[in-house]
Amino acid sequence: MIDINEIGATAFVIASIRSLEPEQPHQLFNDPYAQWFSNERALAAARQLDEVFPPSTTMVRFRTRYFNRFIERGIADGARQVILLGGGFDMRSHLFDNADVSFFEVDQKAVLLFKSAILERHGIQQSPSLLANYLQADVPSGLADHGFDPDAPTLIVWEGNIMYLPPDSIMPFLNRLADAIPSFRIAFDYFAVDLQNRELERDADLERIEGVERAMGASFPTGFPDLAVFEQQTPLRVAESGSFAGLAEEYELADMVAAYPEDWRETLKLYRYCVLERA
Ligand SMILES: C[S@@+](CC[C@H](N)C(=O)[O-])C[C@H]1O[C@@H](n2cnc3c(N)ncnc32)[C@H](O)[C@@H]1O
Repeated sequence: MIDINEIGATAFVIASIRSLEPEQPHQLFNDPYAQWFSNERALAAARQLDEVFPPSTTMVRFRTRYFNRFIERGIADGARQVILLGGGFDMRSHLFDNADVSFFEVDQKAVLLFKSAILERHGIQQSPSLLANYLQADVPSGLADHGFDPDAPTLIVWEGNIMYLPPDSIMPFLNRLADAIPSFRIAFDYFAVDLQNRELERDADLERIEGVERAMGASFPTGFPDLAVFEQQTPLRVAESGSFAGLAEEYELADMVAAYPEDWRETLKLYRYCVLERA
């Protein structure tokens, strides 16, 4: 029996949301593997997410498409390695299988042991992986033991992670990555509010974020009202940022987002993506 903690368990909820994509009238991505990591409990959590704030699972769909595009464009621009950091049950290493690109995964030991057991049952091999708490491990050298080349251009997908991490862990972690990997781009999603002190201008926003925390079964100690802190405290610069809801037109779902009540659309402005690269 593998004992997965509450942060690891969030990976089942996200995989469950992805597993429902074929039922959507307008599909945003294809992940036929997601159903392997779905279960009744995680599906119930996904339903709870939409009860507390109806656009929640739609935003997870948008973010999946966004990170897919980050990988596609990054590879087209010359990236030769992709790290799925806190990748959970992300199957992009198989979905984007490419002889010129190496994928690596990093997640907690219990999560990746569970994942590789499922993959093995389906005759698929787990990608080279570092089974560790990445805040404590030396990620670049741990991955180098699995064939990672710190000097090759690298994409890091840090999806659905940053909000779960202790606020004071993030800049030191990014600085350790920047010290060891000369050329990389890292993409992440985040809440653009001060979750550390729970200082939000609108009570409705805080209630919705706290409802999402309850549905996910884990807390969000960290948000970033201003991305300038990354440029002030690391050698990285903000290469791209925006709200996921702002991608609706590109994803041909503008009518759906426009039909949301104004108050929901205000809350959605807080859920955003960011790409950092060396300045
Ligand atoms: C919400 S899930 C997201 C999984 C995946 N990125 C996705 O979007 O489907 C968060 C994942 O990050 C992992 N994670 C969070 N903090 C971590 C840490 N410090 N070390 C290793 N893994 C971590 C969890 O174990 C979990 O699998």
